[in-house]
Amino acid sequence: MEWSREERYRRIEDESEKNLKELKEKVDNCPYRQKFHIQPKTGLLNDPNGFSYFNGEYHLFYQWFPLGPVHGVKYWYHLSSKDLVNWKDCGIGLKPDSYFDSHGVFSGTGLVKDDKLHLFYTGNTRDENWIRNPYQCLAIMDKNGEIKKMDKPLIKAPPKGYTDNFRDPKVLKNKEKYYCLIGAETQSNQGTIVYYESDDVLEWNLKGEISTKFKGNHSGFMWECPDYYEIEDKGVLMISPQGIEPEGDKYLNIFQSGYLVGDKIDFENGIFNHKDFYELDRGFDFYAPQTMEDENGRRILVGWFGLPGLNCVTDENGWAHCLTIPRELKLKGDRILQIPVKELEKLRKTERKVNFALNNEEKIIDDFNFRTYEMICDFNDFSGNYIGVKIRKGEDEETVFYYDLNEKKLVLDRSKSGKSCTDEYGVIRKCKMNCEKLKIQMFVDTSSVEIFVNDGEEVFTSRIFTKEDSNSISFFTDGNTKVKASIWSI
Ligand code: FRU
Repeated sequence: MEWSREERYRRIEDESEKNLKELKEKVDNCPYRQKFHIQPKTGLLNDPNGFSYFNGEYHLFYQWFPLGPVHGVKYWYHLSSKDLVNWKDCGIGLKPDSYFDSHGVFSGTGLVKDDKLHLFYTGNTRDENWIRNPYQCLAIMDKNGEIKKMDKPLIKAPPKGYTDNFRDPKVLKNKEKYYCLIGAETQSNQGTIVYYESDDVLEWNLKGEISTKFKGNHSGFMWECPDYYEIEDKGVLMISPQGIEPEGDKYLNIFQSGYLVGDKIDFENGIFNHKDFYELDRGFDFYAPQTMEDENGRRILVGWFGLPGLNCVTDENGWAHCLTIPRELKLKGDRILQIPVKELEKLRKTERKVNFALNNEEKIIDDFNFRTYEMICDFNDFSGNYIGVKIRKGEDEETVFYYDLNEKKLVLDRSKSGKSCTDEYGVIRKCKMNCEKLKIQMFVDTSSVEIFVNDGEEVFTSRIFTKEDSNSISFFTDGNTKVKASIWSI
Protein backbone atom coordinates (compact mmCIF):
# COMPACT_ATOMS: atom_id res chain seq x y z
CA MET A 1 0.00 0.00 0.00
CA GLU A 2 1.29 3.45 -0.92
CA TRP A 3 1.07 6.06 1.82
CA SER A 4 0.39 9.64 0.78
CA ARG A 5 2.34 12.47 2.39
CA GLU A 6 -0.80 13.51 4.22
CA GLU A 7 -1.19 10.04 5.72
CA ARG A 8 2.44 9.87 6.76
CA TYR A 9 2.32 13.21 8.54
CA ARG A 10 -0.90 12.45 10.39
CA ARG A 11 -0.60 12.73 14.18
CA ILE A 12 -1.74 9.98 16.51
CA GLU A 13 -3.52 12.71 18.53
CA ASP A 14 -5.79 13.30 15.54
CA GLU A 15 -6.60 9.65 14.89
CA SER A 16 -9.98 8.25 15.98
CA GLU A 17 -10.20 5.76 18.85
CA LYS A 18 -11.87 3.34 16.48
CA ASN A 19 -9.05 3.39 13.92
CA LEU A 20 -6.43 3.00 16.63
CA LYS A 21 -8.26 0.05 18.11
CA GLU A 22 -8.55 -1.64 14.71
CA LEU A 23 -4.86 -1.11 14.03
CA LYS A 24 -3.93 -2.50 17.45
CA GLU A 25 -6.06 -5.62 16.85
CA LYS A 26 -4.42 -6.19 13.51
CA VAL A 27 -0.97 -5.93 15.11
CA ASP A 28 -1.92 -8.18 18.04
CA ASN A 29 -3.02 -10.88 15.60
CA CYS A 30 0.29 -10.92 13.77
CA PRO A 31 2.01 -14.33 14.13
CA TYR A 32 5.44 -12.68 14.12
CA ARG A 33 5.10 -10.59 17.30
CA GLN A 34 8.26 -10.86 19.38
CA LYS A 35 8.39 -12.23 22.90
CA PHE A 36 11.45 -10.65 24.51
CA HIS A 37 12.45 -7.83 22.16
CA ILE A 38 11.26 -4.24 22.41
CA GLN A 39 8.72 -3.70 19.63
CA PRO A 40 6.18 -0.98 18.82
CA LYS A 41 2.58 -1.60 19.90
CA THR A 42 1.56 -0.39 16.44
CA GLY A 43 3.36 1.27 13.52
CA LEU A 44 7.07 1.54 12.84
CA LEU A 45 10.00 1.57 15.25
CA ASN A 46 13.45 2.66 14.18
CA ASP A 47 16.54 4.00 15.99
CA PRO A 48 17.09 3.65 19.73
CA ASN A 49 17.36 7.14 21.30
CA GLY A 50 18.35 8.72 24.60
CA PHE A 51 19.73 5.46 26.02
CA SER A 52 20.92 6.35 29.53
CA TYR A 53 20.95 5.54 33.25
CA PHE A 54 19.13 8.08 35.36
CA ASN A 55 17.52 8.10 38.79
CA GLY A 56 18.21 4.41 39.41
CA GLU A 57 16.86 3.19 36.08
CA TYR A 58 17.82 2.62 32.50
CA HIS A 59 15.93 4.85 30.09
CA LEU A 60 15.51 3.99 26.47
CA PHE A 61 13.48 5.77 23.82
CA TYR A 62 12.93 4.86 20.20
CA GLN A 63 11.91 6.50 16.97
CA TRP A 64 8.24 5.82 16.43
CA PHE A 65 5.63 6.41 13.78
CA PRO A 66 2.45 5.12 15.43
CA LEU A 67 -0.02 4.84 12.58
CA GLY A 68 1.51 2.26 10.26
CA PRO A 69 4.67 0.48 9.06
CA VAL A 70 6.14 3.51 7.24
CA HIS A 71 8.55 6.35 8.02
CA GLY A 72 6.00 9.02 8.83
CA VAL A 73 6.21 11.82 11.39
CA LYS A 74 8.43 10.54 14.21
CA TYR A 75 7.88 10.59 17.98
CA TRP A 76 10.18 9.37 20.77
CA TYR A 77 8.57 6.49 22.66
CA HIS A 78 9.82 6.01 26.23
CA LEU A 79 10.64 2.86 28.23
CA SER A 80 12.44 2.39 31.53
CA SER A 81 13.97 -0.61 33.28
CA LYS A 82 15.88 -1.61 36.38
CA ASP A 83 17.53 -4.62 34.75
CA LEU A 84 17.59 -4.20 30.94
CA VAL A 85 15.21 -7.17 30.71
CA ASN A 86 11.84 -6.04 32.07
CA TRP A 87 10.80 -2.75 30.51
CA LYS A 88 8.14 -0.40 31.78
CA ASP A 89 6.00 1.35 29.19
CA CYS A 90 6.28 5.09 29.87
CA GLY A 91 4.30 6.17 26.81
CA ILE A 92 5.22 8.87 24.34
CA GLY A 93 8.31 10.81 25.46
CA LEU A 94 8.52 13.55 22.84
CA LYS A 95 5.91 14.70 20.34
CA PRO A 96 6.48 16.62 17.10
CA ASP A 97 4.42 19.56 18.31
CA SER A 98 6.77 22.58 18.05
CA TYR A 99 7.77 24.77 15.12
CA PHE A 100 11.31 23.36 15.37
CA ASP A 101 10.28 19.68 15.18
CA SER A 102 7.00 19.84 13.25
CA HIS A 103 8.02 17.05 10.84
CA GLY A 104 9.57 14.66 13.30
CA VAL A 105 11.45 14.39 16.57
CA PHE A 106 14.53 12.70 15.14
CA SER A 107 17.30 10.77 16.87
CA GLY A 108 19.57 11.92 19.67
CA THR A 109 21.23 11.43 23.04
CA GLY A 110 20.35 11.18 26.72
CA LEU A 111 22.87 12.83 29.08
CA VAL A 112 22.55 13.23 32.84
CA LYS A 113 23.52 16.69 34.11
CA ASP A 114 22.53 18.50 37.31
CA ASP A 115 20.30 15.61 38.34
CA LYS A 116 18.24 15.88 35.19
CA LEU A 117 18.14 13.80 32.04
CA HIS A 118 18.94 16.02 29.08
CA LEU A 119 17.51 14.77 25.80
CA PHE A 120 19.21 16.22 22.74
CA TYR A 121 17.54 15.53 19.41
CA THR A 122 17.12 16.78 15.86
CA GLY A 123 13.92 18.64 15.12
CA ASN A 124 13.03 17.84 11.53
CA THR A 125 11.05 20.53 9.70
CA ARG A 126 9.79 21.12 6.16
CA ASP A 127 8.49 24.39 4.76
CA GLU A 128 5.61 24.80 2.30
CA ASN A 129 7.96 23.90 -0.58
CA TRP A 130 9.04 20.80 1.34
CA ILE A 131 12.51 22.28 1.92
CA ARG A 132 14.02 20.73 5.02
CA ASN A 133 15.68 22.49 7.92
CA PRO A 134 17.07 20.42 10.76
CA TYR A 135 17.28 22.08 14.20
CA GLN A 136 19.26 20.62 17.10
CA CYS A 137 17.06 20.75 20.18
CA LEU A 138 16.92 19.98 23.90
CA ALA A 139 14.25 18.64 26.21
CA ILE A 140 14.80 18.03 29.92
CA MET A 141 13.34 15.22 32.02
CA ASP A 142 13.12 15.55 35.80
CA LYS A 143 13.07 12.81 38.42
CA ASN A 144 9.30 12.50 38.15
CA GLY A 145 9.65 11.60 34.51
CA GLU A 146 8.21 14.90 33.35
CA ILE A 147 9.74 16.03 30.07
CA LYS A 148 9.82 19.68 29.02
CA LYS A 149 11.16 20.99 25.74
CA MET A 150 13.21 24.18 25.68
CA ASP A 151 11.25 26.86 23.90
CA LYS A 152 13.86 27.37 21.23
CA PRO A 153 16.40 25.19 19.47
CA LEU A 154 20.09 25.09 20.43
CA ILE A 155 21.45 25.07 16.88
CA LYS A 156 19.27 26.64 14.24
CA ALA A 157 20.67 25.31 10.95
CA PRO A 158 23.57 23.39 9.44
CA PRO A 159 26.71 25.52 9.02
CA LYS A 160 27.84 26.64 5.57
CA GLY A 161 29.25 23.83 3.47
CA TYR A 162 26.84 21.12 4.66
CA THR A 163 23.54 19.83 3.29
CA ASP A 164 20.28 19.45 5.20
CA ASN A 165 21.40 15.91 6.09
CA PHE A 166 22.55 17.18 9.47
CA ARG A 167 21.19 15.30 12.46
CA ASP A 168 21.41 12.86 15.37
CA PRO A 169 23.38 14.84 18.00
CA LYS A 170 25.61 12.77 20.28
CA VAL A 171 26.36 14.91 23.32
CA LEU A 172 29.10 13.98 25.76
CA LYS A 173 31.28 15.47 28.44
CA ASN A 174 35.03 15.43 27.91
CA LYS A 175 37.30 16.96 30.52
CA GLU A 176 35.36 20.07 31.61
CA LYS A 177 33.62 20.75 28.27
CA TYR A 178 30.59 19.37 26.51
CA TYR A 179 30.76 18.30 22.88
CA CYS A 180 27.95 17.75 20.41
CA LEU A 181 28.79 15.45 17.48
CA ILE A 182 26.40 15.69 14.54
CA GLY A 183 26.05 13.31 11.58
CA ALA A 184 26.52 15.31 8.40
CA GLU A 185 26.95 15.40 4.63
CA THR A 186 29.26 17.94 3.02
CA GLN A 187 28.17 19.86 -0.10
CA SER A 188 30.44 17.51 -2.04
CA ASN A 189 28.58 14.50 -0.62
CA GLN A 190 31.11 13.21 1.87
CA GLY A 191 29.77 11.73 5.08
CA THR A 192 31.35 13.31 8.14
CA ILE A 193 30.93 14.54 11.71
CA VAL A 194 30.59 18.20 12.55
CA TYR A 195 31.02 19.13 16.20
CA TYR A 196 30.29 21.95 18.63
CA GLU A 197 31.63 22.83 22.06
CA SER A 198 29.83 24.17 25.12
CA ASP A 199 30.39 24.96 28.79
CA ASP A 200 26.78 24.53 29.81
CA VAL A 201 24.99 22.51 27.06
CA LEU A 202 22.91 25.59 26.18
CA GLU A 203 25.31 27.82 24.21
CA TRP A 204 27.12 25.92 21.48
CA ASN A 205 30.13 27.04 19.42
CA LEU A 206 30.96 25.45 16.11
CA LYS A 207 34.39 23.78 16.22
CA GLY A 208 34.49 22.17 12.74
CA GLU A 209 34.79 18.57 11.60
CA ILE A 210 36.27 15.63 13.44
CA SER A 211 38.96 14.78 10.93
CA THR A 212 39.39 11.07 10.15
CA LYS A 213 41.17 8.98 7.51
CA PHE A 214 37.86 7.34 6.67
CA LYS A 215 37.11 9.34 3.51
CA GLY A 216 36.47 9.06 -0.20
CA ASN A 217 34.81 6.34 -2.29
CA HIS A 218 34.29 3.75 0.37
CA SER A 219 33.10 5.89 3.24
CA GLY A 220 29.58 6.99 2.28
CA PHE A 221 27.85 10.32 1.58
CA MET A 222 26.08 10.69 4.92
CA TRP A 223 26.99 9.47 8.39
CA GLU A 224 23.93 8.93 10.54
CA CYS A 225 23.74 8.40 14.29
CA PRO A 226 27.30 9.05 15.53
CA ASP A 227 28.26 7.66 18.93
CA TYR A 228 31.58 8.13 20.72
CA TYR A 229 33.02 6.68 23.91
CA GLU A 230 36.34 5.98 25.56
CA ILE A 231 37.20 2.52 26.73
CA GLU A 232 40.51 1.57 28.34
CA ASP A 233 42.83 4.16 26.75
CA LYS A 234 41.13 4.20 23.36
CA GLY A 235 38.44 6.22 21.60
CA VAL A 236 35.69 4.47 19.67
CA LEU A 237 33.65 6.32 17.06
CA MET A 238 30.56 4.51 15.81
CA ILE A 239 28.70 5.69 12.72
CA SER A 240 26.00 4.51 10.35
CA PRO A 241 27.25 5.59 6.93
CA GLN A 242 24.97 5.58 3.92
CA GLY A 243 26.29 4.96 0.41
CA ILE A 244 29.15 2.47 0.86
CA GLU A 245 29.31 0.08 -2.11
CA PRO A 246 29.50 -3.70 -1.50
CA GLU A 247 33.02 -5.12 -1.42
CA GLY A 248 33.31 -8.92 -1.39
CA ASP A 249 31.49 -10.19 1.71
CA LYS A 250 31.33 -6.69 3.19
CA TYR A 251 28.75 -3.88 3.07
CA LEU A 252 25.99 -6.01 1.52
CA ASN A 253 23.08 -4.42 3.40
CA ILE A 254 21.41 -1.30 2.03
CA PHE A 255 23.26 0.81 4.63
CA GLN A 256 26.09 0.04 7.01
CA SER A 257 26.88 0.50 10.63
CA GLY A 258 30.38 0.26 12.02
CA TYR A 259 33.19 1.72 14.10
CA LEU A 260 36.68 3.15 14.16
CA VAL A 261 38.95 2.44 17.14
CA GLY A 262 41.83 4.82 17.73
CA ASP A 263 43.51 7.21 20.12
CA LYS A 264 41.12 9.29 22.16
CA ILE A 265 39.72 12.13 20.05
CA ASP A 266 41.61 15.39 20.46
CA PHE A 267 38.54 17.60 20.80
CA GLU A 268 40.59 20.76 20.99
CA ASN A 269 41.77 20.23 17.41
CA GLY A 270 39.17 17.81 16.09
CA ILE A 271 41.67 15.06 15.33
CA PHE A 272 40.97 11.35 15.46
CA ASN A 273 43.81 8.91 14.67
CA HIS A 274 42.27 5.53 14.14
CA LYS A 275 42.51 2.05 12.64
CA ASP A 276 40.26 0.50 9.94
CA PHE A 277 36.50 0.73 9.70
CA TYR A 278 34.76 -2.49 10.76
CA GLU A 279 31.11 -3.41 10.47
CA LEU A 280 29.54 -3.95 13.87
CA ASP A 281 27.29 -6.70 12.71
CA ARG A 282 27.44 -9.30 9.93
CA GLY A 283 23.73 -10.09 9.68
CA PHE A 284 20.92 -8.72 7.52
CA ASP A 285 19.13 -6.36 9.90
CA PHE A 286 21.12 -3.98 12.07
CA TYR A 287 21.49 -0.20 12.07
CA ALA A 288 21.82 3.02 14.07
CA PRO A 289 23.11 1.56 17.38
CA GLN A 290 23.52 3.68 20.51
CA THR A 291 25.64 3.07 23.58
CA MET A 292 25.58 4.24 27.18
CA GLU A 293 27.68 3.70 30.30
CA ASP A 294 25.82 2.31 33.25
CA GLU A 295 26.55 2.84 36.93
CA ASN A 296 28.90 -0.16 36.99
CA GLY A 297 30.97 1.30 34.20
CA ARG A 298 29.70 -1.13 31.59
CA ARG A 299 29.39 0.15 28.02
CA ILE A 300 26.10 -1.17 26.67
CA LEU A 301 24.79 -1.11 23.11
CA VAL A 302 21.28 -1.36 21.71
CA GLY A 303 20.67 -1.25 17.96
CA TRP A 304 17.75 -0.94 15.61
CA PHE A 305 16.83 -4.47 14.46
CA GLY A 306 16.05 -3.15 10.99
CA LEU A 307 17.24 -0.85 8.22
CA PRO A 308 15.91 2.25 6.46
CA GLY A 309 14.50 2.03 2.97
CA LEU A 310 13.28 -1.56 3.17
CA ASN A 311 9.90 -3.18 3.55
CA CYS A 312 9.26 -5.63 6.37
CA VAL A 313 7.29 -8.90 6.25
CA THR A 314 5.03 -7.62 9.03
CA ASP A 315 4.01 -4.46 7.13
CA GLU A 316 0.70 -6.09 6.19
CA ASN A 317 0.01 -6.51 9.91
CA GLY A 318 0.39 -2.82 10.69
CA TRP A 319 3.79 -2.76 12.38
CA ALA A 320 7.50 -3.05 11.58
CA HIS A 321 10.83 -3.69 13.33
CA CYS A 322 12.11 -3.98 16.90
CA LEU A 323 15.27 -3.25 18.91
CA THR A 324 18.16 -5.70 19.46
CA ILE A 325 18.92 -7.23 22.84
CA PRO A 326 21.33 -5.12 24.91
CA ARG A 327 24.98 -6.06 24.49
CA GLU A 328 27.96 -5.24 26.67
CA LEU A 329 30.93 -3.94 24.70
CA LYS A 330 34.56 -4.83 25.31
CA LEU A 331 37.70 -3.91 23.45
CA LYS A 332 40.17 -6.41 21.95
CA GLY A 333 42.94 -4.70 19.97
CA ASP A 334 41.20 -2.55 17.40
CA ARG A 335 38.03 -4.65 17.52
CA ILE A 336 34.88 -4.37 19.57
CA LEU A 337 33.41 -7.47 21.23
CA GLN A 338 29.65 -7.60 21.80
CA ILE A 339 28.41 -9.81 24.62
CA PRO A 340 24.73 -10.22 25.54
CA VAL A 341 24.29 -8.54 28.93
CA LYS A 342 24.39 -10.93 31.88
CA GLU A 343 20.90 -9.90 33.02
CA LEU A 344 19.42 -11.72 30.01
CA GLU A 345 20.01 -14.97 31.92
CA LYS A 346 16.86 -14.01 33.83
CA LEU A 347 14.89 -14.94 30.73
CA ARG A 348 16.06 -18.56 30.88
CA LYS A 349 13.34 -21.07 31.82
CA THR A 350 13.48 -24.81 31.07
CA GLU A 351 16.99 -26.05 30.36
CA ARG A 352 18.12 -29.00 28.22
CA LYS A 353 21.71 -30.14 27.73
CA VAL A 354 23.39 -32.48 25.26
CA ASN A 355 26.89 -33.75 24.67
CA PHE A 356 27.74 -35.88 21.65
CA ALA A 357 30.10 -36.55 18.75
CA LEU A 358 29.23 -36.03 15.10
CA ASN A 359 30.79 -38.03 12.31
CA ASN A 360 29.95 -36.94 8.77
CA GLU A 361 26.23 -36.55 9.54
CA GLU A 362 23.37 -34.24 10.35
CA LYS A 363 21.68 -34.98 13.66
CA ILE A 364 18.42 -33.78 15.18
CA ILE A 365 18.30 -34.34 18.93
CA ASP A 366 14.90 -35.37 20.33
CA ASP A 367 13.30 -32.74 22.51
CA PHE A 368 16.18 -30.33 22.04
CA ASN A 369 14.17 -27.36 20.80
CA PHE A 370 11.75 -24.62 21.77
CA ARG A 371 9.99 -21.83 19.87
CA THR A 372 11.82 -18.96 21.55
CA TYR A 373 15.08 -19.65 23.30
CA GLU A 374 18.70 -19.02 24.08
CA MET A 375 21.16 -21.69 22.95
CA ILE A 376 24.90 -22.06 23.50
CA CYS A 377 26.83 -24.65 21.46
CA ASP A 378 30.51 -25.45 21.75
CA PHE A 379 32.22 -27.30 18.90
CA ASN A 380 35.60 -28.86 19.65
CA ASP A 381 38.19 -31.07 17.92
CA PHE A 382 36.68 -30.51 14.51
CA SER A 383 37.77 -31.54 11.02
CA GLY A 384 36.19 -31.64 7.56
CA ASN A 385 34.95 -28.75 5.40
CA TYR A 386 32.18 -27.40 7.57
CA ILE A 387 30.52 -27.61 10.99
CA GLY A 388 27.30 -25.93 11.87
CA VAL A 389 23.77 -25.78 13.14
CA LYS A 390 20.38 -25.41 11.52
CA ILE A 391 17.56 -23.78 13.42
CA ARG A 392 13.88 -23.26 12.67
CA LYS A 393 13.86 -26.42 10.58
CA GLY A 394 10.55 -27.55 9.15
CA GLU A 395 9.30 -29.30 6.07
CA ASP A 396 10.71 -26.72 3.65
CA GLU A 397 12.41 -24.26 5.97
CA GLU A 398 15.74 -23.96 7.75
CA THR A 399 18.12 -21.21 8.83
CA VAL A 400 21.70 -22.36 8.51
CA PHE A 401 24.75 -21.09 10.36
CA TYR A 402 28.13 -22.73 9.84
CA TYR A 403 31.87 -22.39 9.83
CA ASP A 404 33.63 -23.06 6.55
CA LEU A 405 36.99 -24.54 7.58
CA ASN A 406 38.56 -24.13 4.14
CA GLU A 407 37.65 -20.53 3.56
CA LYS A 408 37.84 -19.74 7.28
CA LYS A 409 34.50 -17.99 7.14
CA LEU A 410 31.34 -17.88 9.18
CA VAL A 411 28.24 -18.18 7.01
CA LEU A 412 24.59 -17.36 7.68
CA ASP A 413 22.18 -18.64 5.04
CA ARG A 414 18.58 -17.46 5.32
CA SER A 415 17.51 -18.54 1.82
CA LYS A 416 15.01 -20.95 3.43
CA SER A 417 14.04 -18.84 6.44
CA GLY A 418 10.39 -18.46 5.45
CA LYS A 419 8.92 -15.19 4.24
CA SER A 420 11.22 -12.43 3.10
CA CYS A 421 10.86 -9.16 1.25
CA THR A 422 14.50 -8.10 0.96
CA ASP A 423 16.03 -10.91 -1.14
CA GLU A 424 17.36 -8.37 -3.64
CA TYR A 425 20.13 -7.72 -1.06
CA GLY A 426 21.09 -11.39 -1.07
CA VAL A 427 20.26 -14.28 1.24
CA ILE A 428 23.74 -15.17 2.51
CA ARG A 429 26.11 -13.26 4.78
CA LYS A 430 29.71 -14.28 5.46
CA CYS A 431 32.70 -12.99 7.31
CA LYS A 432 36.28 -14.07 7.83
CA MET A 433 37.21 -15.65 11.13
CA ASN A 434 39.97 -17.91 12.27
CA CYS A 435 38.38 -20.47 14.60
CA GLU A 436 40.37 -22.93 16.64
CA LYS A 437 37.22 -23.60 18.57
CA LEU A 438 33.73 -22.45 17.89
CA LYS A 439 31.22 -21.18 20.42
CA ILE A 440 27.85 -20.09 19.12
CA GLN A 441 25.39 -18.30 21.37
CA MET A 442 21.99 -17.63 19.84
CA PHE A 443 18.94 -15.72 20.97
CA VAL A 444 15.95 -16.85 18.95
CA ASP A 445 12.72 -14.91 19.26
CA THR A 446 9.48 -15.46 17.33
CA SER A 447 10.84 -13.73 14.23
CA SER A 448 14.52 -13.11 14.81
CA VAL A 449 17.90 -14.59 15.58
CA GLU A 450 20.99 -12.94 17.08
CA ILE A 451 24.12 -15.06 16.79
CA PHE A 452 27.21 -14.28 18.90
CA VAL A 453 30.37 -16.13 17.92
CA ASN A 454 33.31 -16.84 20.23
CA ASP A 455 32.13 -14.49 22.96
CA GLY A 456 31.13 -11.62 20.75
CA GLU A 457 33.96 -11.52 18.20
CA GLU A 458 31.35 -11.50 15.44
CA VAL A 459 27.59 -11.04 15.57
CA PHE A 460 24.90 -11.83 13.01
CA THR A 461 21.60 -10.07 13.67
CA SER A 462 18.71 -11.13 11.43
CA ARG A 463 14.94 -11.28 11.25
CA ILE A 464 13.46 -14.60 10.09
CA PHE A 465 9.78 -15.17 9.38
CA THR A 466 9.27 -18.91 9.56
CA LYS A 467 6.18 -21.09 10.00
CA GLU A 468 4.94 -21.76 13.49
CA ASP A 469 5.86 -25.44 13.40
CA SER A 470 9.36 -25.05 11.91
CA ASN A 471 11.21 -25.48 15.17
CA SER A 472 13.70 -28.35 14.90
CA ILE A 473 17.39 -27.86 15.50
CA SER A 474 20.08 -29.98 13.85
CA PHE A 475 23.88 -30.13 14.07
CA PHE A 476 25.97 -31.12 11.06
CA THR A 477 29.46 -31.68 9.68
CA ASP A 478 31.07 -33.54 6.80
CA GLY A 479 34.00 -34.35 9.08
CA ASN A 480 34.16 -34.89 12.82
CA THR A 481 33.36 -32.71 15.79
CA LYS A 482 32.44 -32.87 19.43
CA VAL A 483 29.35 -30.87 20.37
CA LYS A 484 28.27 -29.64 23.77
CA ALA A 485 25.06 -27.64 23.77
CA SER A 486 22.56 -26.11 26.19
CA ILE A 487 19.22 -24.62 25.38
CA TRP A 488 16.85 -22.62 27.57
CA SER A 489 13.28 -21.80 26.66
CA ILE A 490 12.38 -18.15 26.91
C1 FRU B 1 18.43 6.66 11.04
C2 FRU B 1 17.61 7.93 10.88
C3 FRU B 1 18.27 9.10 11.62
C4 FRU B 1 17.11 10.00 11.88
C5 FRU B 1 15.99 9.04 12.14
C6 FRU B 1 14.65 9.49 11.67
O1 FRU B 1 17.66 5.53 10.86
O2 FRU B 1 17.44 8.25 9.52
O3 FRU B 1 19.33 9.70 10.90
O4 FRU B 1 17.34 10.85 12.96
O5 FRU B 1 16.35 7.84 11.49
O6 FRU B 1 13.68 8.57 12.06
